[in-house]
Amino acid sequence: MTEVDLATSADRSATEWWRDAVVYQVYPRSFADSNGDGVGDIDGLREKLGYLELLGVDAIWLCPVTCSPMADHGYDVSDPRDIDPLFGDLAAFDALIADAHERGIRVTMDLVPNHTSDQHAWFLEALSAAPGGPARERYFFRDGRGASGAEPPNNWRSVFGGPAWTRITEPDGSPGQWYLHLFAPEQPDLNWGNREIFDDLARTLRFWLDRGVDGFRIDVAHGLAKPDGLADMEHPDKDPTLLGSAADDPRFDQDGVHEIHRNIRKVLDEYPGAVAVGEVWVDDGERFGRYVRHDELHLAFNFRLAQADFDTTDIREAIDHSIGAVDPVGATPTWTLSNHDVDREVTRYGDGQVGLDRARAMSLVELALPGVVFLYNGSELGLPNVDLPDEALRDPMWERSGHTERGRDGCRVPIPWEGTKAPYGFTSGPDGPWLPMPADWSGLTVEAQLEDLASTLTLYRTALELRRRRPEASGDGIEWFPAPPQCLAFRRSGGLFCVLNGTEHPVPPPPGRLLLSSAPLVDGKLAPNSAAWLV
Ligand code: NOJ
Repeated sequence: MTEVDLATSADRSATEWWRDAVVYQVYPRSFADSNGDGVGDIDGLREKLGYLELLGVDAIWLCPVTCSPMADHGYDVSDPRDIDPLFGDLAAFDALIADAHERGIRVTMDLVPNHTSDQHAWFLEALSAAPGGPARERYFFRDGRGASGAEPPNNWRSVFGGPAWTRITEPDGSPGQWYLHLFAPEQPDLNWGNREIFDDLARTLRFWLDRGVDGFRIDVAHGLAKPDGLADMEHPDKDPTLLGSAADDPRFDQDGVHEIHRNIRKVLDEYPGAVAVGEVWVDDGERFGRYVRHDELHLAFNFRLAQADFDTTDIREAIDHSIGAVDPVGATPTWTLSNHDVDREVTRYGDGQVGLDRARAMSLVELALPGVVFLYNGSELGLPNVDLPDEALRDPMWERSGHTERGRDGCRVPIPWEGTKAPYGFTSGPDGPWLPMPADWSGLTVEAQLEDLASTLTLYRTALELRRRRPEASGDGIEWFPAPPQCLAFRRSGGLFCVLNGTEHPVPPPPGRLLLSSAPLVDGKLAPNSAAWLV
């Protein structure tokens, strides 16, 4: 390396700290409750930073903690520059950042620029203003169709079910215009054609960056631009709950969205090291890659692995697709097995012991890959989804879909920390946790797993440690090797071999020294539904 190369690579590691990072997603409602109200909060998270340091993560992605009436648990923001009292206050947030930084953990936070809450001052102003005025121009207000305007302005569906439009009553009491909401009616979509929206977002970005935040996860990053004229969807009956992966879905992935990301990027570039990762549900690899061009988002979530079955063809296709989508634009791939919107991997892979075995195996596959790994809180404990009774369901999707979609509560059940009975140290309040916790989770608590060498938590801790320390677990590329049917073998360019046995019988490992396996070997062979790392 020349001196110039060395300087460049040193700069790169300081500002692009995220290139190989493991980012731990905290769903704050469900992480740790410090004040006994049954809902997790910022102080609760702060008390658990030692745990995250022990686990070995590089950064946190904190789901929304800003002011919100909580119609969608924080994804309906009424003030983007303050903390909701349910979670704490700005002082608690500052203390979290300071303590996390002290432990070498960076903090990124959720940003929700596609919509506001219906209780946001802008929306309240729009409701009391006359049609056609500037207050309504911040959102999408339109007259209805039909003689009396009683039909929605177009046929768009809400991702949470039902129409994407709600009719308001005008200040004079008459039936009025309609407003667009791709999600719940409490989440009116912002009109990004209005420069004021960007200016306000820039203020929000600087507000948090000035407080020391290391970056943002950008909610619905592929949905910010809406097509001129808001023409009808061609296929409104296609599953509306998908966040728009169909290429012809006018609600998402409009070309105009890239200008917005370029403007956001300019603000972030004022803060070296700040990172933005977008939620981008775009199937087509080339279109996906556009979001991570050098002057747009640094990273975008690729959900292929979170959608793939435990099937080696699907898994390999997901990996190739994710790398192939970002490679041409020189961006970094991202990996995630689950998040707060999808079923937990243990459940997706079959639940019970088989589901857990497969989830453990996939954790080694994911952590062997180049790029950024997003780890949803509870994955490291091998938590499954929980089948909640109807009366416990809190996701707006449940109501909006007329009780046909159970929604996402099953993957949002609080983290079990200690003890043998629910709520396992999550809360000490008299009313219990905001979602009921299963009676049979005592073996899954952090306390139960911490010292157990065979636990999922120990597997994650070991894998994270090896990923961080071993030179073989480095390099930007992977190379596939021949493997028996329903098995996969790839080599990270640094030299780490990862092999996955997706069969129901033991399979001999390839030559090499075993570093780690997700299940004990069986007579020297890889156990069914397991993976291993070799050098
Ligand atoms: C995506 C978020 O991940 C999800 O939880 C939320 O409901 C929608 N965006 C709407 O903000």
